[in-house]
Amino acid sequence: MKKEMKPVHGVWASRWVFILAATGSAVGLGNIWKFPYITGDYGGGAFVLVYLACILIIGIPVMTAEIMLGRRGGMSPIHSMQALAKQAEAKKSWSLIGYMGALAGFFILSFYSVVAGWALYYVFKMPTAFAGATAESVGATFDGLLAAPYTLTAMHFVFMVMTMGVVAFGVNKGLERMVRIVMPLLFLLLAILLGYAATTGHFSDGLAFLFTFDFSKLTSEAVIVAMGHSFFTLSLGLGAIMAYGAYMPREMIVGGVKKPVSIGSTVLIIALLDTLVALVAGMAIFPIVFANGLEPSAGPGLMFVTLPLAFSAMPMGVLFGTLFFVLVVCAAWSSSISLGEPLVAWLVERSWNRVKASVLIGVLAFVLGMGSVWSFNIFAGAEYKLFDRTFFDLLEYLTTNIMLPLGGLLIAIYAGWVMKETHVRKELGMKNFKLYMVWRAVVRIFAPLAIAVVFLNALGVI
Ligand code: PHE
Repeated sequence: MKKEMKPVHGVWASRWVFILAATGSAVGLGNIWKFPYITGDYGGGAFVLVYLACILIIGIPVMTAEIMLGRRGGMSPIHSMQALAKQAEAKKSWSLIGYMGALAGFFILSFYSVVAGWALYYVFKMPTAFAGATAESVGATFDGLLAAPYTLTAMHFVFMVMTMGVVAFGVNKGLERMVRIVMPLLFLLLAILLGYAATTGHFSDGLAFLFTFDFSKLTSEAVIVAMGHSFFTLSLGLGAIMAYGAYMPREMIVGGVKKPVSIGSTVLIIALLDTLVALVAGMAIFPIVFANGLEPSAGPGLMFVTLPLAFSAMPMGVLFGTLFFVLVVCAAWSSSISLGEPLVAWLVERSWNRVKASVLIGVLAFVLGMGSVWSFNIFAGAEYKLFDRTFFDLLEYLTTNIMLPLGGLLIAIYAGWVMKETHVRKELGMKNFKLYMVWRAVVRIFAPLAIAVVFLNALGVI
């Protein structure tokens, strides 16, 4: 067989493995933990609608663009953007997309690991702590965890080791091997949980909360959070999906014939699965909130308070509860590896050893994450807050609501205006011309405009 040129880091075994890996990156704490609680914070239905609109009209086209850039570049986002800019005879400064993304990814990794650490703690806690639980007792357990910096640090440490451990094994032996096992299991467990929520008697209250559109509750802050979250949940704007795109095979064998792997339909599947998981998580959590007289706006603790309650009342709840938190950890794990990979791949391309690069990034992200650990205890006081936000809140806001949409904006502009159209068409391989024209109009005009409007609105300019 003729030897084909392979990217240095390897390629996914098939299109389906790419879909699993990208869905693994997309589906994570953003869906199960964050989506329900920000929906609760911003009042429900209207927020959900704006979020869905952002996924459809900004998220999907930008994801297509990001994967396309990655596949064409074939390297880590920083080097891919450098190479692409050269190819298009564009300014070198376009590699800023890669650098800014790398920084955003590093910031997110640092606090993502802290929150994933909470879920990890619940894996150990679930078997013993929640028998006969009440709304107060589960609330107290969560508050107790946040007040314990050593426990938080230990969990954050373990999760970071797990993440960088997989990255150290590389694309095929590390990332690919884990997503093949974890993702199918995650979907199974979510279905079971949804089945349980549907029997609580408050299922319709939960649905009403999620799907009744009360626009009077919609503020410009809510719109920017919805847009930011659409980037966060699809892992867009920072190069994670670009790095995965670089390992995407160009062709696959169907019935013995080689066919080009289309990016567009692949993106649709990933976005659909991601949205589905978020909605299912919402549909599972809100009925439990209403059945127990809890507040939907309970903030980051929402999942950690509602789910133990539900499981403690459920037959074989200890088993399912433990399993569920194992899977939350796994979902977070398959996302966090995509936060570490772009940086490690970049160092590997600069002749670093993959293991050493993984250790370095892991140590740095762990250290930065300590700021988030202490945001909930030692530095929780008002005197440590800036704009009324803790370090954790600030980092989350800066990355999700500013850096990611900005990254997405630049990616769209690059794909729409800078990259040669012949290259774009070749890489996308879209057969439907009309659909291609729609996509092109969106990345050239509509998506940049929409992102800019939301930014300007949040700044109070318009
Ligand atoms: N999409 C992930 C989630 O929803 C988080 C993430 C963001 C992962 C950006 C990679 C890049 O949890």
